Amino acid sequence: MEQYAIKGGNPLVGEVEIGGAKNAALPILAASLMTDETVFIENIPDVRDTNVLMSAMQDIGVMMKKEGRHKATINAANINTTVVTNDKLKKIRASYYLVGALLGKYKEADVVLPGGCDIGSRAIDQHIKGFEALGAEVKIEFGRIRAKAEHLRGNHIYMDVVSVGATINVMMAATLAEGKTIIENAAKEPHVVDLANFLNSMGANIRGAGTDVIRIQGVQRLHGSEYMIIPDQIEAGTFMFAAAITKGDVTVKNVITKHLESITSKLLEIGCEVKEEDDCVRVVASKPLKHTQVKTLPYPGFPTDMQPQITVALALSQGTSIVTESIFENRFKYVDELIRMGANIKVEGNVAVINGMKKYTGASISAPDLRAGAALVLAALAAEGYSTVDDIRYIERGYEDFHIKLQGLGAQIDLIETERDFQKFKLKTG
Ligand code: UD1
Repeated sequence: MEQYAIKGGNPLVGEVEIGGAKNAALPILAASLMTDETVFIENIPDVRDTNVLMSAMQDIGVMMKKEGRHKATINAANINTTVVTNDKLKKIRASYYLVGALLGKYKEADVVLPGGCDIGSRAIDQHIKGFEALGAEVKIEFGRIRAKAEHLRGNHIYMDVVSVGATINVMMAATLAEGKTIIENAAKEPHVVDLANFLNSMGANIRGAGTDVIRIQGVQRLHGSEYMIIPDQIEAGTFMFAAAITKGDVTVKNVITKHLESITSKLLEIGCEVKEEDDCVRVVASKPLKHTQVKTLPYPGFPTDMQPQITVALALSQGTSIVTESIFENRFKYVDELIRMGANIKVEGNVAVINGMKKYTGASISAPDLRAGAALVLAALAAEGYSTVDDIRYIERGYEDFHIKLQGLGAQIDLIETERDFQKFKLKTG
């Protein structure tokens, strides 16, 4: 079983290039089956989640030709079924985007129900409510979500909770519905906007993405397009916090600084220097970190996907910090691992009270989910001594070449498989 071996203590210094946004790539790939014409997509991150989705799309007859690691030509003219059973899909959350895409185009979809990270109950009632409002009959049976409609008709839909997934799914189906759909209380995340831009580039008529009211005038068909996916806000934020946690100096390149505002503002608050340029941002952590309070919120609030990374930083700050998780109820599971590394954190419900300490010490730890896994790697990089991190398959779901990019910043981290590999790593870095 692959693990990361890490020797901590080096400040990370240098430049790192950010890839395409996983959470934009997933709906954009799914939406590319909504036209029979050819679509060309650039900046697809080469991570497990996108690869699993692409392979499930190939299984139903979508032609997918990759050019290098990050570009693909996609043609969905010869889809032979709307039943998607690829077992691997259960492992990724975004499998449900195939429901919105297939339902929009073929008025029916039958897709294996999603899994993804175990970070709390992840209801899909708002997706179902949206599909039903458009006239579909939706059933959950045999571990699948089945949706079917004679006709899809636009409607006025109020989302009871702000949901990225439901906003995206309903937007896709409504694009090929008859008439006008209004989604109120819509999610405003950059990837929602990116999908809307992609659909519009295929001939859709979507306005208001990025605000909480999205208006969609249904069109009869979509055409081919060439599109480049936005940079990954969370990958960028993770490397920005890597600088803070390791007391380093990291320039994060190929970003949209506007998408990073909530992250930048917290880094400034805890005493880091942040210098923004057109498409890069430099984070320097030369002073002791200060404590703060943070609550995760839908965009433009502080992202829940950055909550473990800021917690890892605040455990090294001076004073007492409070982190409140308001999106997913089960997102502090990694804290036990941090405590084993010396952190002083108490979790009560959805609130973590963090008393700052001087330094982590290395330990054998496991990644409980994607973002927490990455955050634990950052803790190990700041720690005194050696750590191993296992279950790194979670990290590989969403970070391309994570350890290689960290090595580029001077981190002592390697992929290992056996105890012997670990001993060799110790000899090399000792
Ligand atoms: C997406 C992201 C994930 C991120 C999350 C919040 C992808 C593939 N994943 O997940 O990385 O952490 O947004 O920014 O893009 N909810 C309901 N009913 C629903 C749908 C959601 O009650 O029908 C609740 C969820 O339980 C959660 C909250 O709404 O408490 C937000 O979930 P949502 O925005 O839908 O997250 P995902 O789209 O699953």
